[in-house]
Amino acid sequence: ISLKPYNTFGLDARATYFVQVNSIQELKDALSLENYPNKFILGGGSNMLLTKDLDCLVIHLALKGIEIINQDEDEVLVKACAGENWHQFVLWCLAQDFGGIENLSLIPGNVGTAPIQNIGAYGVELKDVFESCEALNIETKAIETFTKEACQFGYRESVFKQDKKGRYVIVSATLRLRKHQHQLHTEYGAITNELESMGVVDPTIQDISKAVIAIRESKLPNPNVIGNSGSFFKNPVISNIYFEKLKINFPDMPSYVVSQDEVKVPAGWLIEKSGFKGKTFNNYGVHKKQALVLVNYGGAQGSDIFDLAKLIQKTIKRIFGITIETEVNII
Ligand code: EPU
Repeated sequence: ISLKPYNTFGLDARATYFVQVNSIQELKDALSLENYPNKFILGGGSNMLLTKDLDCLVIHLALKGIEIINQDEDEVLVKACAGENWHQFVLWCLAQDFGGIENLSLIPGNVGTAPIQNIGAYGVELKDVFESCEALNIETKAIETFTKEACQFGYRESVFKQDKKGRYVIVSATLRLRKHQHQLHTEYGAITNELESMGVVDPTIQDISKAVIAIRESKLPNPNVIGNSGSFFKNPVISNIYFEKLKINFPDMPSYVVSQDEVKVPAGWLIEKSGFKGKTFNNYGVHKKQALVLVNYGGAQGSDIFDLAKLIQKTIKRIFGITIETEVNII
């Protein structure tokens, strides 16, 4: 079958075999099917570039359900199953006035993939509200619980992309959210500006979500209209020393402090400076409003987009001496 409806890049790669699982038991059963030695777990399909057909059994995770598992006066623990759409889950929390993930509104993908790359935007990362997640150990078929510490979260990083890569399937995530006295994160310049233009003086978590949605809609292509996977690359971290050296030739290069001796440089800026912003090659290219996003205008091949990504990486290495890593999983 075509995987086009199952990846936000809208790539028409094919799976030889495909099964959708709606429960943990169905997931275990699918993983135990011995006639299919090669299996591929597919979640929301929002963070991958399919460069070829998948000659294997694709297992599509559709585990659904949201429940409150504990609460006190101030906080609530909410557990959501892996197959819940992330943004729908954010909206559900906002409707209950549960605060903590409003800045993460409109991020494509599902709950189950959110911990893998510690999704983040506008001054908040999943790890800030993360309590734990449950994951199926593919080898033993047992469900294991990973605390926040066990997940080893970093910038777009977790243990699921490192030591435990390919060995677990996340089946649910539990977040610790606030019921009142919300801690608002409005320090990100774009949010302050957007709230101002909305005429909001004393913002609620719902206002922040609306501001984030407006910002994202103005800059980022909607995957339902133009295929994409959000940021294709991670923002590189470089030493202060190297940054100061680059500043001589590129005095307007922006940066964010990461630690005492390191800064993060926006990859979008590097790509724009290299001349790729808005570049279109037949039916794919670099987004016009945010250079960090590669897009499929319809009918592109994943391998073409991958070649473009490699060309961008090579060019940035040549001009700035900086290596930018992909954020998206290349399949
Ligand atoms: N910039 C440019 N040209 C561009 C894009 C960006 O010069 O085409 C420079 C500008 O200086 C701008 C700065 O980059 O001020 C930062 O841009 P932006 O606020 O759009 O953020 P970003 O660093 O490009 C990161 C995340 C996004 C997240 C935003 C907001 C990564 C890899 N990306 O992008 O995440 O929404 O911050 O917090 O960290 C995603 O992961 O899919 C994603 C969209």
